[in-house]
Amino acid sequence: MYAKFHSIGAYVPSKVLSNADLEKMVDTSDEWILKRTGIRERRIAGDSEVTSDMATKASKIAIERAGLRNSDIDLIVCATITPDYFNMPSTACIIADKLGIKNVQAFDISAACSGFVYALSVAKAFVESGMKRHVLIIGAEKFSSIVNYEDRTTCILFGDGAGASIISATDNKSEAIIDINASADGSYSDFLVTPAPGSVNPLSQKVLDEGLNFVQMKGNETFKLAVKTLTKDVKKILIDNNIDAKDIPHFVPHQANYRIIKAVGSALKMSSEQVVVTVDKYGNTSAASIPMAINDIYESGRLKRGELMLLDTFGGGLTWASAILPFAGETP
Ligand code: ACO
Repeated sequence: MYAKFHSIGAYVPSKVLSNADLEKMVDTSDEWILKRTGIRERRIAGDSEVTSDMATKASKIAIERAGLRNSDIDLIVCATITPDYFNMPSTACIIADKLGIKNVQAFDISAACSGFVYALSVAKAFVESGMKRHVLIIGAEKFSSIVNYEDRTTCILFGDGAGASIISATDNKSEAIIDINASADGSYSDFLVTPAPGSVNPLSQKVLDEGLNFVQMKGNETFKLAVKTLTKDVKKILIDNNIDAKDIPHFVPHQANYRIIKAVGSALKMSSEQVVVTVDKYGNTSAASIPMAINDIYESGRLKRGELMLLDTFGGGLTWASAILPFAGETP
């Protein structure tokens, strides 16, 4: 039994937060943001629009595009670090309810920006072992809920959104996910951290006074490590699978910073046509960034059935992951 990447769907909130808007909020400039990150604008969810709402909308599209009914789904894995509730219930359980799916296994994965590829590896293992047939994987973030809009070093980077995919069983090896590598190094856990709420810092007045509920990042250190690690990681997965970078039509990197994307793409000697870039319009949507980017090339007609995708990602934990797979869904 093999696992195939059966479909893709995404949801993007309608509210746009532009660099010009941020200029009015913090001491920054459109020029600085564009030059250092490649971001022009990002989307922000409405006040009453939560992570599971965006995830459910993306999931409905992915299920429909796979030609399935909601009841065909036998596992839901939601990758998010901005869940509806920090402790319980999991966002995956809420998504199951919003989709009207009963008697389904459902849980969340916390791997920051690497969450979607981590979820992909979990789905692959469940399907290949024969335990599940159709797994709904989701990357969804309401990142604006943990961003301090007075901190110019982080608030310019992040946005909200969701992407979803169905991973299904197949006996056809030519449409199977080829390989996934997922890794972590917790010794760098202080590079990207949301200090509260958690068992280290339970919710308290001190937490609120010191803004410990907001994301903190050692940006420059993370940047350098991301370029180094990702370049090594994508080269390794290509070599391990005897695939040449020039034979990958779609390199879909995590959309954190255009300079990171460009550096890794250049190290692989990829042309701009091969590299998928959406960071300019969505910013960094963490676990949602890769499925949102895949959805972009799907909806624009760039992604065709059977074409290879190379995914790579890097984020809090620290975590990183890469994957090589053909798109095994129908294309419009
Ligand atoms: N506007 C203007 N100036 C700014 C801003 C801003 N928004 N933010 C920082 N600066 C200033 C700094 O204060 C600093 O000034 P100084 O030299 O006077 O001290 C200067 O700009 C340079 O700051 P750096 O942090 O060194 O800038 P850098 O070029 O590294 O860019 C950035 C910062 C964009 C955050 C970059 O480091 C980055 O993209 N890092 C990686 C992010 C990443 O990949 N994260 C992983 C995924 S996220 C996740 O897992 C949730």
